[in-house]
Amino acid sequence: MNVEELKKQAARASLRYVASGMKLGLGTGTTARWVVVFLGEMLRAGELQDVTAVPTSSATAALARSEGIPVVELDAAGVDLAIDGADEIDPNLTLIKGRGGALLREKIVEAAAGRFIVIADASKKVDVLGSRAPLPLEIARFGWRRTAALVEKLGAGVRLRQNEGEPVISDNGNYLLDAEFGIIGDPAGLQHSLKSLPGVFEVGIFHGMADLAIIAGPDGIEEVSR
Ligand code: A5P
Repeated sequence: MNVEELKKQAARASLRYVASGMKLGLGTGTTARWVVVFLGEMLRAGELQDVTAVPTSSATAALARSEGIPVVELDAAGVDLAIDGADEIDPNLTLIKGRGGALLREKIVEAAAGRFIVIADASKKVDVLGSRAPLPLEIARFGWRRTAALVEKLGAGVRLRQNEGEPVISDNGNYLLDAEFGIIGDPAGLQHSLKSLPGVFEVGIFHGMADLAIIAGPDGIEEVSR
């Protein structure tokens, strides 16, 4: 089975946790987009009603609107349930996120969720974080070279994220840094150290946030609770 099919399966399985009347946090990326597509289908079919959504990126907001999903702002009450993909998922459900560049909004929305479900194909499962992807950071454009140097001092090789030679700008108007730390033995400690650096707005380590992982592999769907 191809990876796209596995992403779809994980997304479809997560929709079992969605009920009418919920306010949802909608994630960003090639896995989370299927949640938006299937949610749109279910709303149009009348299988769900009165669902509203807080998207975690302008891309997801555009997709949600095109699917006829009512988009609302995040208010003080947060959301009932957030569903999103990840770049890496460790056995404690600590995540690396942000390859899609939406980590800041994702963290705000997912921290504000009564429940956060992470969905993925099985390639995202790792024993230790840092095994397959660099760690994304959202940083200020002002003085970014200095911020990058501070991140390097913590032991990473860093790269400013670029597209066709131009820096990628996040939805919030910031730069993205990809930091290669290798194996991350203490994700909570590293997150704390990075967030203490001036110029670092958000870190792609999502620790103690996901309540449930739905992982689709060739042998079926695995659900792991934290
Ligand atoms: C977006 O910024 C990311 O956090 C994504 O959720 C993550 O990169 C997973 O994306 P894919 O589902 O496209 O692999």
